[in-house]
Order: sequence, then C-alpha cells, then structure tokens
Amino acid sequence: MFLGIDLGTSSVKLLLMEKDGEVIKTLTKDYSLSFPKPTWAEQNPNEWWEVTKNGIKEILQNTDKISLKGISFSGQMHGLVILDKDDKVIRPAILWCDQRTEKECNYLNNEIGVKKISEYTGNMALTGFTAPKILWVKNNEPENFEKIRKIMLPKDYISYMLSGEFATDTSDASGMLILDVKNRKWSDEMIKILEIKKEYLPEIFESYEIAGELKQEIMDELGITVKIPVAAGGGDNACGAIGAGVVEEDKILVSLGTSGVVFIPQKKWSLPEKSSMHTFCDSSGKYHFMGVILSAASCLKWWIEDIHDGNYAKMLDEAEQSPVGSNNLFFLPYLTGERTPHSDPYARGSFIGLTAAHTRGDMTRAVMEGIVFALYDSYNLADGLNPDTIRIIGGGAKSELSRKILTDVFNIKSEVLAIQEGPSYGAALLALFGTENEKNMDEKLKEIVKITDIIEPDLENHEE
Ligand code: XUL
Repeated sequence: MFLGIDLGTSSVKLLLMEKDGEVIKTLTKDYSLSFPKPTWAEQNPNEWWEVTKNGIKEILQNTDKISLKGISFSGQMHGLVILDKDDKVIRPAILWCDQRTEKECNYLNNEIGVKKISEYTGNMALTGFTAPKILWVKNNEPENFEKIRKIMLPKDYISYMLSGEFATDTSDASGMLILDVKNRKWSDEMIKILEIKKEYLPEIFESYEIAGELKQEIMDELGITVKIPVAAGGGDNACGAIGAGVVEEDKILVSLGTSGVVFIPQKKWSLPEKSSMHTFCDSSGKYHFMGVILSAASCLKWWIEDIHDGNYAKMLDEAEQSPVGSNNLFFLPYLTGERTPHSDPYARGSFIGLTAAHTRGDMTRAVMEGIVFALYDSYNLADGLNPDTIRIIGGGAKSELSRKILTDVFNIKSEVLAIQEGPSYGAALLALFGTENEKNMDEKLKEIVKITDIIEPDLENHEE
C-alpha cells in the first residue's frame, strides 16, 4: 500500500491506497490558521508537523505496516517556510492567500520589469508567490532574513522532517517565482535579485522521483521496520491533476476548493498571451497553464454559513429553483482580492443588479455562477485550447448544481470522478509511480482513474 499526504490550508488529508489504485482509508486532521492583520495569513509549520505525524500514526493503526511501500506529498503551494542554521523555524509560514506583498510585487514587475521576471521564471510576480514573500521578510524583518539558511515550501517541510532530505519538486517549485520553469532548474538571476544563496534552496526532483527514505528515528516512532521510499510529491493542483487523470491536452481540471483553479495541461513549454495566467511544471514531467481565483467554494461557505444559518440542502434547493442567469443578478467573488486574471489585492466582492424582486435562491445561484464565471475568465486568457472534457475536484465538485453550471458556462462536457479525493490521491499515486519506477504514467492513469458519470453541456444555457 501507498500513503498520500496532502498538507492543505485548513487540514492535512491522508490517504492509504492499494497498488491498483483502490482507496483503503482516508483521514483528515485540522490545524489552525491565523490572520494577524487583514489580508495576512500565517500558519505554524511545527503544528503542521505534529498534526501530520499523529495523522500518519492514526491512519497506519490496524494496518499491516510491512505492506507500506511508499509515501508522497501534495501541499498548499507558494507558502514561505524559513529555517535557521539549527533547522529551527524562524517565523510562521506566510501562506499562498496572504496579500501583504503588493510593494514587493510592484518592485519585481515594475522596477526589475515584468518582461525580465517572466523571461527568468515564465511568470509575473503575484502577491501569493514565494519570492515576493522573501523580499517582504528582507524589507520588514531584516533580523529574520539574516538568519535564513533553508527556504522551503509547506509540503517540503513535512518531507524534510520525515526523511531528512532537503528536497522539492518542479511543480510546487514553479510557484516560488525562483524556478526557471522552462528548464526545470533554479534561476540564478532570481537568486541574485532576492539576495539569497543557492544552497538555501532545496534540491529539485520531478514529482514522481524518489527523493529519500524515512529516517530511522521516524521508522522507530511509527513502528516501521523496512525502508520506505519517499517520492518528492507536488503542489496540490498538480497532484489533483494526477489524481483526476488530467495529464494530456484533451482534458482540463477545475478545482473548486477554498481557491478555484483551472488547470490546463500543456505538452510543451509555451508562455500564455496574458501573464497573470501561471505557467508551471506539472507532476507528470510536462507543463501546464493555471488560472487561480482566491475565493471559490469559500464564497459559498461565507454566504451559506456566515451570512445564513448553514443549511446547505435548503439553500442549494432554492438556488435550483432560480433560472439560469439568476434573474440577471451577478456576483463578483473577490472576497479576498483576486489573482487571475485581475492580479489585484484590492478587488472586492459584490452583488450587482439587485432588485426587490430577487429571492434568496437567486442570490445563492448568483454566488455559484459568479465563481464559475471567474474561472471562465481565467480559462479565456489562454488562446488556442481545445479540450473536450472537464474533470472537477474539491468540495464544490460534490454539488450537482455546481457541476451543471460549470459544464454549461464552459460549454464542455464534464466527467464525474469515482474517486474525488484529488490531491491526496494524486500524492499516493506519485508514491506508487516513484516506487515502481513507472515509465508510462499517462497510460497507467487511464487504467486507474475511473469516471462514474458524464454531464453534457446545454447550448441554450451556455448562450444565456
Ligand atoms: C495555487 C494556489 C492555491 C493553493 C491552495 O496557485 O495558490 O490553489 O495551492 O492550496
């Protein structure tokens, strides 16, 4: 069996899988998230580690540990974890959804210049990315900046604690704005701009490559007696794409989680026309474009749980009664600023077009449609795409109405996955592929990833 660990924003999700892709069991364990100032978001890497370690112990309970053959990771992307000379965490991790780096992004995009930054990395500086966070620490906490000896991403901290290997993978490293994405290696120019040293950065692997094995002390603590290889793993969206079998250009992935993502596989390297679309390595050795909206399912959560009484069944039923287009009511989902396509931390949410005739059902439906329209804006940044299928993951994939709205707005058929775990499932598959040294991942995924339903788009609804 294989263990996938997805270090998310609100919880870590663990998944044990058989060699044939069958899920044995899953476990979710929560941790805290702090917002020290409006638009800031931080977490304590030591808490990630404690919760994850306990989760591993718990999920392995009552299993035949001897049959555990490999471990790999998925993780929230872009977070900055910095360690000092004694491997101590210097300050809380600054997360992907943190918006404090506007000044640093302006410096990178306007003073150094977006042309150069994109030549070095394939991307423009966006507030969530890691490099602007390093500059923020340099500008605002020079004493912490001086102490830095290791810079890593959230999941890589867990991998480091388990294996002792200072490693990352190309898909997650793409979101740092330090990787030369095209050539899958660190950019010397970015290292110079950030005034850091190359040895502060981890060794780069492909997601499916074995980066190390469990440390002896961890094996002892977990009661494991044989060596367990650890594959490098990937960013949560790249792992989600593996778990959904989205690795070729005929399919796209939409993730409806806290953030919303349109993930567009690309066989060869190219730059999208508009640069707020990310160009990253994927977890199968190729590339992908990605548009990210900062508030997706979280908008619906805000509307149903914070503004109303949390009765999902009732409110989704009301939304179902509202017609396509929500009676001309629109919702902009920019509750925490926006990344793609606007790259604007000051963007704000709103309902537009309210009249006394609108019902709560119209408003709920407008929220759901607004999230999908924002994703469609991202998708439309890339030219010349011709996918014939969407696969959906994340909490939002569970709602039939969300899936229908997405299918109609994109006017592309969507497939419902038998296993909707996404990132943690992708991580377990990477552990399998790495351990087995699988050379034909794309074909293997066609065998393993199963669908249970197909939703066809309705052209009339699409026009509306
Ligand atoms: C991707 C991104 C988010 C986080 C969420 O660029 O910022 O999807 O990875 O975990």
